[in-house]
Amino acid sequence: MMPEALIEDPRLVAVGERLRGVRHVVAVLSSKGGVGKTFVATMTAVALARMGYGVGLMDMDVTNPNAHILLGHDVEGKLPEEEKGIVPPLVAGVRFMTIAYYTGENPAPLRGEDVASAIREVLAITRWGHLDYLIIDTPPGMGDELMEILTTIRRAESVMVTTPSPLSLVSARRLVKLLRVGLSRVVGVVENMSNHPNEQVIDLAKEAGAEYLGNIPYTPAVDELVGRPEQVLETPAGEAIKEVAKKLAALLP
Ligand SMILES: Nc1ncnc2c1ncn2[C@@H]1O[C@H](COP(=O)(O)OP(=O)(O)OP(=O)(O)O)[C@@H](O)[C@H]1O
Ligand SMILES: [Mg+2]
Repeated sequence: MMPEALIEDPRLVAVGERLRGVRHVVAVLSSKGGVGKTFVATMTAVALARMGYGVGLMDMDVTNPNAHILLGHDVEGKLPEEEKGIVPPLVAGVRFMTIAYYTGENPAPLRGEDVASAIREVLAITRWGHLDYLIIDTPPGMGDELMEILTTIRRAESVMVTTPSPLSLVSARRLVKLLRVGLSRVVGVVENMSNHPNEQVIDLAKEAGAEYLGNIPYTPAVDELVGRPEQVLETPAGEAIKEVAKKLAALLP
């Protein structure tokens, strides 16, 4: 019998194949919860699509997916087209995949190995075709789930999201150290819910060897316009997101 470590999960090979037509896989990360990963990931994807790029968005928060809510995309009872895999539908100009197509708004009571398996499965079955950018929304924390996502994708570059709060910054620094072991290259840092650039966040970007992609002001209209991404892009937060998208596209041509 072969030792277990030598038997590679065939899904890992499948994931590599599925991502072959994607120029850049960009994971949006923050170890701290609630700082705006989903908002930044979703709106940056929509902004890049409006710039004319081929864009995909994958919600990898498998136990608590919510990118579809920002997109205003009703997932109840809607299974995407299957043809030798899953073809993600176009939503707001973006190819959009989420486990919520299968779980709806019910909880997905996944634990341990099941979480890892769901992450691998969804990555192995999704057919992205040719894309310029595949944006990955990730769950909070820097434990099993994030490790599984980054080691399964293998080639994800990352954008970190932080608020200027000291708690978020400490958490972000930990994540930078963790990613440095070869998990992912941090290309940019976004300062969210902040009305002006903060020196501490600019320093964090420098430490990470990344570009400071700008500050996104706290904009109460974001919650009022939930589900209408095109309109969110016209708010102050949306205008800042468009700048983030431009800088990101310039960094990852
Ligand atoms: N710049 C902003 N202005 C106003 N509201 C914002 C802004 N950024 C995010 N929000 C809102 O803050 C809340 C948290 O954002 P979001 O869900 O994107 O965070 P998250 O980091 O993905 O959270 P989690 O860690 O739970 O996945 C959401 O209601 C979102 O709409
Ligand atoms: Mg989120």
